[in-house]
Amino acid sequence: MRPLPIAHIGILVADLVTSRERWSKVFDGVFSPVSRYRPENWSDFGNPEPHLHDARLTFYIGDNPSIEILEFVGNGTHSPTKGEGGHHLSFPPLEDNEARRQELAELGVRIDGEIRHDNRWIFQFAEAGALNNVYTEWVEEHPDHPDVKDDLSPIGRLPDGTKTLFELETILDLPDGRPDSGIVEIGVVVADLDAAKAMWEAVIGYRFIDDGPASAVAGPFAATIRLIRQEPDGSREGLSYATIADADLESTGRRLQASDVPVTSVISADGLLSRLDVDPAYLNGFGIRFRRP
Ligand SMILES: [Fe+2]
Repeated sequence: MRPLPIAHIGILVADLVTSRERWSKVFDGVFSPVSRYRPENWSDFGNPEPHLHDARLTFYIGDNPSIEILEFVGNGTHSPTKGEGGHHLSFPPLEDNEARRQELAELGVRIDGEIRHDNRWIFQFAEAGALNNVYTEWVEEHPDHPDVKDDLSPIGRLPDGTKTLFELETILDLPDGRPDSGIVEIGVVVADLDAAKAMWEAVIGYRFIDDGPASAVAGPFAATIRLIRQEPDGSREGLSYATIADADLESTGRRLQASDVPVTSVISADGLLSRLDVDPAYLNGFGIRFRRP
């Protein structure tokens, strides 16, 4: 598989409105108004019969990659039994999702969550079990992706006709487009590091390089993926944290403190503030870390 940059990190939560407020305090930029991705014919392992899947969500304005927060729904891929926290990694739209499906099948990876529309696989989740509790999201561009506002009215369209989940003014105020999120690393906890490296390389095409005895890093793009060996009494497998490069940690620290965000300062050997770690318990079990570029 040709490696692609990560488009967004998906986070699953119990209460979208509360989570959106918290994540908005941590990030220095807006999250889109709550909207829904509402296919009539979703199917997944939990309910293979095509059915309505009414997923409420919000996206962070920062991009490359962005963050998507989704609320529990259904009894399959987005079920409360999955637990809160890191849920999926999404990649830019593919020309041919059928080809991706076949590549995954050759690796023994099944599709758990899919939409067949207009004779195309416009959306597919590769099963989370294949990649240490992380779904990978593969989409095709199509004008009929079922996005609607939270009140089920149509989502906004920019003057050039493209759809957006953001307030129109938010996007029109950004003549150079959405800013970069600054996310430079995504941490994934894995039980078996060697097995994980091999499977991640096969599924997403990144080449992993060992970085110490317990982790491996990969990715030719802005946001790298770090696989981290799970500690014996450690947290669950899966997406664990994202690190944001930040040239002004002091002012970020003051901003977070002013918003009552629980954060731990990491001081380097030379006595400088080198990292700020937001308490994962504040962000649905997912860690956000700010560090010097
Ligand atoms: Fe997504």
